[in-house]
Parts: sequence; structure tokens; C-alpha cells
Amino acid sequence: MNQPVSGFSKKTKQEKIDWLAENYLQNNPDAVQILKKYWNEDAQLQQLHDDFIENTLSNYYLPFGIAPNFLINGKLFALPMVTEESSVVAAASNAAKFWLERGGFKAEVFSTEKNGQIHFNFYGSEKSIEAFFEAVKPKLRKSIQSIEKNMKARGGGLLELSLVDKSHILDGYFYIHATFETLDAMGANFINSCLEQMAHTFEEEAKHFEPFQQKETYPEVVMSILSNYVPECLVRAEVSCKVEELTTKHYDGKQFAEKFVRAIDIAKTESRRAVTHNKGIMNGVDAVVLATGNDFRAVEAGVHAYAARNSYYGSLTHAKIEDDVFTFWIELPLAVGTVGGLTSLHPLTKLAFEILQKPNAKELMKIMAVAGLAQNFAAVRSLVTTGIQKGHMKMHLMNILNQLHATKEEKNEALNYFKENAVSHSAVVSFLENFRM
Ligand code: MEV
Repeated sequence: MNQPVSGFSKKTKQEKIDWLAENYLQNNPDAVQILKKYWNEDAQLQQLHDDFIENTLSNYYLPFGIAPNFLINGKLFALPMVTEESSVVAAASNAAKFWLERGGFKAEVFSTEKNGQIHFNFYGSEKSIEAFFEAVKPKLRKSIQSIEKNMKARGGGLLELSLVDKSHILDGYFYIHATFETLDAMGANFINSCLEQMAHTFEEEAKHFEPFQQKETYPEVVMSILSNYVPECLVRAEVSCKVEELTTKHYDGKQFAEKFVRAIDIAKTESRRAVTHNKGIMNGVDAVVLATGNDFRAVEAGVHAYAARNSYYGSLTHAKIEDDVFTFWIELPLAVGTVGGLTSLHPLTKLAFEILQKPNAKELMKIMAVAGLAQNFAAVRSLVTTGIQKGHMKMHLMNILNQLHATKEEKNEALNYFKENAVSHSAVVSFLENFRM
């Protein structure tokens, strides 16, 4: 039976590994070796990674790939993509090339507002809390002057404060809704610092508010935190072309466009399909989010909440055919940054920004939206034509070959053979068995 450990965080990296090996890995030297194999030989670089999180033992690689030929608002980009899933980068590249020949992607940012809440309890009269809120508002603003200074100098900061009464849903529940402009920063630390300071001022000032004193009823802050639901931080990306321009040697443009629009309509109607549909979109978005050191959990949470904003979960993309023109677009909230956080710490993240020609946050939002749209185009195109497995399994072939410890020669032969034959795990096993006979 393993025992709980105390003071674990104080142990050195080696001590942590020893403890782990002893308690959970039966002192297996191979297991320890795997952890060490992934250390970077540059001690300084390794230390940087060790310091990103707590109790770091090793590094966990994800592939960093590139999808070229993205024409966005007339400018050509190569997108850095970090993902573990085979065929995502190939699909993005294919879609980029396809739309490069048809005018490229257009993208625009509608708004960049972020928000946070100070959630509190109040069981007195609605009138008194409203009066207090109006009276304390200037003091709340003033109390964050020093936190806001730099952000304000750059043109951002706190925008609005409003009081929201939710006591009809949850007894005594109110919140202060605060909106912010955080410019090129995702702004989580800035927003949370502002909220916590304002919450403190709010409670302190309440102690001196006469109507509260009279009734001996004061507001009590429960918590202060930013919201990852950011429907006011919205970006749109679009592609469009004449329906006949969609014709390829494999399918007729009009038939393809109609089936494509139908597939999107299904994803707009049925949440079982919409979840997978949007997952495919996030294959593209997250890969760029990760490559640029942004917080993919925050992005995911916000995006899926947005997909459910109409009380049902639906597609993030839309498509139509009007006057023989096919238009396909995406609209999604993306609170991301190009400064702060990991963006300037991780060498590969810095490189990703260089590859993207040093975008600001708005430009990055557009690039990510395009990555999502391209990914969705590629997925739905496959789904309504060949089916997804043909392309996907082709891309997955190398993983299967690696799993089966294929040699270089076997891999080459297999790649050749499976150009013409359907890939499946058992087909690859049979192929190798025959080849090795
Ligand atoms: C797989 O990662 C993503 C897809 O399932 C997306 C979709 O179905 O649209 C192919």
C-alpha cells in the first residue's frame, strides 16, 4: 500500500523521481530512464521548462508542425500548429491551398472586450444595494489606479461597472459585472487583480454605508474572478467563391456545395453532430493556440459556451449558397494574447510569433479563426465526399508502422502499397507479415 507523502514539493527533482519510482514504478530503471531521456541537454532551457509548472519531472513533447499557404486578408501566412493528432496539419494545409486558389480567407474582429465578476451575497433591500453601488463606483475605479496604470497608458483598462441582481434565481445573489480592454494581453492576471482589489474596496466601503449600518446587513463577497465566457471578444472568418469554382475532378461544384451546406445545417440543428463538428474546428484553433502559448482550456470553455448561447448547442460555422455563390464562415469568441503569460517565455512560442510575422492580439484572433474554418472545411469536405477515414488513415499509417516497429525499408514499401490500398490496423499487420516472410 502506498503511503501519502508530505513536503513533496520541497524535494529536489531527483528525489521526486526516486520517490515516484519507489512508490509507483516498482523501481523500474527503464521508467526512470524514460523521464530522463526527455530532459533537454541545455540545462538552462530545461530549468525554464521546469519552472513553468510545479513538481516537473520531465518534458512532454507535442509535435510542432507548419501549415503553409494561408492567404488571410491578402497576406500570406504559414501557421505554426501544435497537435498530437495526425491529419490535422495536412487537412489545414489542403484547405489553405484550396482557398488560396479561390481568393483566400477574409477575417475581421468585431470586438475585444473581456469581463469579470465580483460575486456577492446581500440580503437587504434592493434599493439600498443599488444606492450603495452607485455611490461606491468611483471609489472602486480609484482603488485600481495603480494596477491599471500601465494598461491605461497603452489605451486599455477597466471599461464599465454594472450591478446585476440574480436574487430571483439564487436567494441573495448579486454580482458586479466589470468589463475590460486588455489590448494584446489575454489579461487574466490583470483582470483578476483589478477584481480582487475592487472587491476589497467594496466590502470596506460597505461598512460605512449608513443604510447597511441601520439594518446591520452588509454585502459579503463570495469570490472575484474573470469570466472565460467572452461573447464580446468576437472574430469572424469567411471564404466564398462561385459554386462552379468548387468543381474538382472528383465532384461537381453545385452538388458538393449543396451537400456541404446541408452538413452545416445538420450541425446547426443537432447537438450530437455539432459537438464533433466543433471539435474538428478546435483541432485547428487549439493547434495555433498551443503553438502561441495561449490558454487552450480558456479558449475551449468560452467557445463551447458560445456554441450553446441560444439554449442549445450548435455549429460555430455557417454556410449558404446565394446567387450561385457559396459562402462559408465562422464566428467565435477568442480571448488570446500576444504578450504576457508563456508568449515571451517559451522559445518555440516566440518562434511561432516570428513565423506569424509578430501579430497583435486582433490579428492572432483572425489567424486562429481561419485555422478553425479551414479545419472544418477540410473535415466536412471529406465527410460529404470520400468519408473521413480514407484520408485520416493514410495520415495515421506512420503511427501504425511505428507501433509495429517497421524499419525504414518496410515503411517505404508500406507507403507505396497503401497509396492504392485502404489503410487499417489489420491491413498494415498483414502487409508487414507478408513483407517479413
Ligand atoms: C476528428 O478529430 C475531427 C472530425 O471528427 C471533425 C468532424 O467530424 O467534423 C473529423
